[in-house]
Amino acid sequence: MTQQLTGAATTSGARTRWWRDAVIYQVYVRSFADSDGDGIGDLRGIEERLPYLAELGADAVWLTPFYASPQADGGYDVADYRVVDPLFGTLDDAQSLLRTAHRLGLRVIVDVVPNHTSDRHVWFREALAGGPARARYHFRPGRGPEGELPPNDWQSVFGGPAWTRVSDGSWYLHLFAPEQPDLNWENPEVRAEFDSVLRFWLELGGRGVDGFRIDVAHGMVKAAGLPDIGTAEQVRMIGSQTLPFFDQDGVHEIHRSWRTLLDSYPGERIGVAEAWAPSAERLALYVRPDELHQAFNFQFLRCRWDAAAMRTVVDDSLAATASVGAPTTWVLSNHDVVRHVTRYGGGAAGLRRARAAALLMLALPGSVYLYQGEELGLPEVTDLPDELREDPSFFRGAGQDGLRDGCRVPVPWTDEGPSYGFGPGPGWLPQPESWGAYSVGAQTGDPGSTLELYRAALALRRRLDGLGDGPMSWLEGPPGVLVFTRPGFVCTVNTLPGAVELRVPGRPLLSSAAPDISGESVRVPGDSCTWWAI
Ligand code: GLC
Repeated sequence: MTQQLTGAATTSGARTRWWRDAVIYQVYVRSFADSDGDGIGDLRGIEERLPYLAELGADAVWLTPFYASPQADGGYDVADYRVVDPLFGTLDDAQSLLRTAHRLGLRVIVDVVPNHTSDRHVWFREALAGGPARARYHFRPGRGPEGELPPNDWQSVFGGPAWTRVSDGSWYLHLFAPEQPDLNWENPEVRAEFDSVLRFWLELGGRGVDGFRIDVAHGMVKAAGLPDIGTAEQVRMIGSQTLPFFDQDGVHEIHRSWRTLLDSYPGERIGVAEAWAPSAERLALYVRPDELHQAFNFQFLRCRWDAAAMRTVVDDSLAATASVGAPTTWVLSNHDVVRHVTRYGGGAAGLRRARAAALLMLALPGSVYLYQGEELGLPEVTDLPDELREDPSFFRGAGQDGLRDGCRVPVPWTDEGPSYGFGPGPGWLPQPESWGAYSVGAQTGDPGSTLELYRAALALRRRLDGLGDGPMSWLEGPPGVLVFTRPGFVCTVNTLPGAVELRVPGRPLLSSAAPDISGESVRVPGDSCTWWAI
């Protein structure tokens, strides 16, 4: 029994749209490459490493925020949206990076952070002074006889109340840290300002950026009246239930207007939503034809290493996005979650599963986001000393996925040096001693390495017509094993720890662990994925 799934509207016109099957590599700017030795990654460091990304086979790069910021939340607290923070370089560096990327055939997506500004943004300074400037944010009187209680019971995603009191006794809303006051998107000035910010980056240096990753795209509109939720369990409910500050219907009108703006520029500039929605159907609303191009599929990221669970997520995701004609956007790791090697159990088993999951993801219909270092098989760093941590969710208690510094440790490029080639000196977070062996230098040329597996997979994905956008069908497989076909191609994934016997489905192209073929049957190792040509 096979089930036909069309991952996307596959009109021939749609197939030419680059973003429908693009492999997009996320650069966490502070931890990628440090050119000046201050221990913090920067734009020049990234520019120097762009040939590595082009050679890896990425189609585009997404850069996390590098704008002027006091860095209360790794740059997701923006003080000036049109200025590059001196920590990361200058606007000239940004332009030079864009030029080099485009010359190498790489598109560049930048982050935009519209849900909140930094508390150092000029608008918030004006708001603190009182008067109409407050209407750009959510200021409210407190509850209780003296207004000493927050205006409602909302909890910050980083822990603690989502409200902070200012000197005149009123309170302002911050879904994240107190240094990140939420903007009021009912205010026309806010909308006009962000249109202008988008235009600034879309036009920078002539050709501009190729798109935006929209931070907290599901949070910009709050339920009218800011109603109480009635439970202290809010942080755990994120992503599973609609909260009055997330996934409100009103956000879609903003995304629709941004789509119109993006479409007014040549070259298919895209918007990708960071939206934690309660279901695949709710997420699909963000990628309706007149809204954003992509939305990260966090249901896939959150899925455990289990064939039946993964198949359900794949089916639900493809069905939901197909219903609106959009591609699915697969992702396994990012700068906010524990790296998937560690999520899948860590150690040798975690790495085996991570390698297999990567091949699975790259064989599914749609676009893929890779997080820096996953191509090296990097695990989460779980033993960072507390005094070196910077993640505000660590300091404020329960964060969205716990502690987010362990996935932000600088990338190792060489097998020696003070930061394994990340920069001329030590990096802002120390790398474990074992990381020399994970470095790009150590893995390059080793056919058994994770880096060479990613390189081979991306090269094949480009070369094979049947991968990327287009249909897929499930084939029968034993319990614990996923088998699916794409045009000219079969993918087998054994999620069990032990080997299984299958009928040889075709000619082996690439494996995360070599299958043992004898005659008509093949022994597929535990926790492995193989691509086959048929
Ligand atoms: C997004 C970012 C995260 C940040 C938060 C607040 O979830 O990915 O890193 O802390 O938004 O801006």
